[in-house]
Amino acid sequence: MAVKLVVEDVGKDYLIPIIDRVSFSVDAGEFLCLLGPNGCGKTTLLRIIGGLEPATRGAVGIDGELIVAGRPHQRRIGVVFQEDRLLPWMTLEDNVALVLKPLGMPATERLATARRYLGLVGLAGFETYYPGRVSGGMRQRAAIARALAIEPDVLLMDEPFGALDAQNRRIMQREVRRIWRETGRTILFVTHAIEEAVEIGTTLVMLSARPSRIRELIRNDGRVERLKLIDDLNTMIMEEVERQQGGAP
Ligand SMILES: Nc1ncnc2c1ncn2[C@@H]1O[C@H](COP(=O)(O)OP(=O)(O)OP(=O)(O)O)[C@@H](O)[C@H]1O
Ligand SMILES: [Mg+2]
Repeated sequence: MAVKLVVEDVGKDYLIPIIDRVSFSVDAGEFLCLLGPNGCGKTTLLRIIGGLEPATRGAVGIDGELIVAGRPHQRRIGVVFQEDRLLPWMTLEDNVALVLKPLGMPATERLATARRYLGLVGLAGFETYYPGRVSGGMRQRAAIARALAIEPDVLLMDEPFGALDAQNRRIMQREVRRIWRETGRTILFVTHAIEEAVEIGTTLVMLSARPSRIRELIRNDGRVERLKLIDDLNTMIMEEVERQQGGAP
């Protein structure tokens, strides 16, 4: 089931303030792309939303339920990190089946589910391969299958295609959009690539330099012409990168 995600006045300080105050909501079934300069707190924000990291202030809610780091909640949150984080000593299907264990699924069903999701990301026939025997793009697909297999209410993706070449990247963009259409998940996707965001996001959120706030929230509904949107976002990110480099530390 797709859900609504609400980020309300979320802020984070480490030694220095990283995220000042960020609020936005992601509607059920929306594909939100998060952009912003290096080090402005995108990964940190994703980790806070996923309940992997406590916020210094503010709150995250999924369909009204508060997500607090370290506290159990009812929501299933799938995360795809920049690296695939597969276990090299397990086959692709065992890697995916492993995350289904805590859900109390019987072993045969776990395997069947793992195979189904590997098929969904285009890895049919490679189920019994070890991660070291498939390409980087295929490993990343397996990581996406693993995140999808738990049937997450929300799917968080942190630059999942960062390590891929341009060709594989385009293929994966198409795949993720297809999966999104087929499964109707609520997706929050971090990327550095502006064209990628404009290509796949239904909403684009540009964060400012650290300590970050929302610089711009754009509904990508085709009202602004694609090339102009890319141009505007490029200008914005350049300004924020310069602002961040001008500031300490
Ligand atoms: N555990 C931590 N302890 C202290 N500082 C941290 C910690 N994690 C992240 N930071 C700092 O928080 C800031 C934001 O980091 P984060 O990884 O969220 O940025 P980002 O926007 O994802 O950057 P990138 O675009 O490079 O992926 C950085 O300055 C980083 O040094
Ligand atoms: Mg990051």
